Amino acid sequence: MFPEHRPRRLRTTPAMRRLVGETTLRPRQLILPMFVAEGADAPRPISSMPGVVQHTRDTLRKAAVDAVNAGVGGLMLFGIPKTRDAEGSGAIDPDGILNVALRDLRSDLGDATVLMADTCLDEFTDHGHCGVLDAEGGVDNDATLRVYAEMGLAQAEAGAHLLGPSGMMDGQVGVIRAALDRAGRTDTGILAYSAKFASAFYGPFREAVDSQLKGDRKTYQQDPGNVREALREIELDIAEGADMIMVKPALAYLDVIRAAAETSTVPVAAYNISGEYAMVEAAAANGWLDRERTILEVLTSIRRAGADMILTYWAAEAAAWLD
Ligand code: PBG
Repeated sequence: MFPEHRPRRLRTTPAMRRLVGETTLRPRQLILPMFVAEGADAPRPISSMPGVVQHTRDTLRKAAVDAVNAGVGGLMLFGIPKTRDAEGSGAIDPDGILNVALRDLRSDLGDATVLMADTCLDEFTDHGHCGVLDAEGGVDNDATLRVYAEMGLAQAEAGAHLLGPSGMMDGQVGVIRAALDRAGRTDTGILAYSAKFASAFYGPFREAVDSQLKGDRKTYQQDPGNVREALREIELDIAEGADMIMVKPALAYLDVIRAAAETSTVPVAAYNISGEYAMVEAAAANGWLDRERTILEVLTSIRRAGADMILTYWAAEAAAWLD
């Protein structure tokens, strides 16, 4: 008695497996998130994200060139200011750390990569929320929009090709798009963090940006159980002018990525976030996982789920392996 069907035939040799591979993972599909700290005189390690640092302006420039040479598709920049206030005014200041770093990288790299900026206030506010607060201490959606419009414009003027509004305020994409257009910045695009969940996996990122947050972000980030709501956010962002949309986190949300890929009319990004990075690094450091195999499997799975591009702290390293 022999089986009639033998799928194993297509797995017999590496060449055969390569031929029938369904999912591609290329360096250009990987985007490297990077941190730059104002006034730092040496890179500062982030203990919960081994291998990731808060850069100085100079080390950022060098690491950015290295990542681009490794073939990554883009860079996403986060700034850590020296001082913070209730309005997050360092975000708008042309001399604020994020804008200064954008100018550095744009002058070094020109159009050789796609330069992106986090358009959100949480790194710049002394209360750690993604927006400004009202008299009761709640996050004031519409007052925040005015700040986002100015922040986005400052980032565009500093050299960002793509703005990444990540604060989950209603109307943020439309307001930033209008501000850019009014200023003649019609070529600056928007990568909207459309479906961003209130996730425990952001834990290490809070250390990465010295977050001042006390409470949580559940009045603006989504409930992890909701997929229909994610599709509504995506639909609204595309209608407001998003050039690309994002699902975040990635690994625990592969079904959301799949649903987004099936409905979106613009490219879909997924953010393989700090907690996903930390889990793999911690297990690998203990010898519990084969680090390189695990990383490539994680990234391949996010692509298989439907993401066109992946923001990942492994972008430069993985790009070098894939080359
Ligand atoms: C908000 C922002 C966050 C991340 C990216 N942009 C933090 C948050 O929403 O709490 C998280 C990225 C990560 O965890 O790797 N500016």
